[in-house]
Amino acid sequence: MKKIWISIIIIFVVSTDSFPQSEYDRLREQMVKYQIEARDVKSKPVLNAMKKVPRHEFVPEKYRKEAYNDHPLPIGYGQTISQPYIVALMTELADVTKGEKVLEIGTGSGYQAAVLAEITDSVFTIEIITELTNEVKHRFQRLGLQKITVKNADGYYGWKEYAPFDVIVVTAATEHIPPPLIEQLKDGGKMIIPVGHPLQVQDLLVVGKKDGKVRSKNIIPVRFVPLVRGAK
Ligand SMILES: C[S@@+](CC[C@H](N)C(=O)[O-])C[C@H]1O[C@@H](n2cnc3c(N)ncnc32)[C@H](O)[C@@H]1O
Repeated sequence: MKKIWISIIIIFVVSTDSFPQSEYDRLREQMVKYQIEARDVKSKPVLNAMKKVPRHEFVPEKYRKEAYNDHPLPIGYGQTISQPYIVALMTELADVTKGEKVLEIGTGSGYQAAVLAEITDSVFTIEIITELTNEVKHRFQRLGLQKITVKNADGYYGWKEYAPFDVIVVTAATEHIPPPLIEQLKDGGKMIIPVGHPLQVQDLLVVGKKDGKVRSKNIIPVRFVPLVRGAK
């Protein structure tokens, strides 16, 4: 009888699409320790945000159990949620402080925006795929993240209405830095952006603007999905 019960429990755990909440919490702690701190991300606000945001809520149900693994995952429509380490690294490089205004280009699942929103109250994010934008609006509502402002548009043009931004984070690959994003960056502001061939490896750049001059620093090679162009 005991054997039968054990088999039933094992079959149940293996066959469901999700773990109990406590297991997600444990996996998230491990993710931060072994994938992020171990790779030298040190910023306390970033580590706290990564410990807090429930990444498994941002991936399709069939990938929930993989949400804390060390790789990107598909989110539908040919798009991906980035590897946790890359999200943490970009957030650390962005060096956002409370109250600063941040623009993200490429909302995708909404995970990067949610991590940024743990650090500042003012997060704007643009997604070009209508279906993903609608999904993310529902997700933000369900998770109580309504303070993140989302729109469906081509992020190449930024969001003039709310500019200038202290920080701009671009999470899709582009061959050049979009001039409208440079214009909408505050003097003294910072942009984190993967630049290079959209179908190959790109350079993750930190772009600074000071007294009208733009300077960039190459951090590491990365591979992002392309920044596609839509209607203005
Ligand atoms: C790597 S995914 C972003 C992952 C996302 N930041 C997250 O946390 O899940 C890139 C996203 O950029 C979007 N994208 C591509 N070109 C875009 C554009 N011109 N404007 C806005 N979003 C764009 C894609 O549809 C995709 O959702």
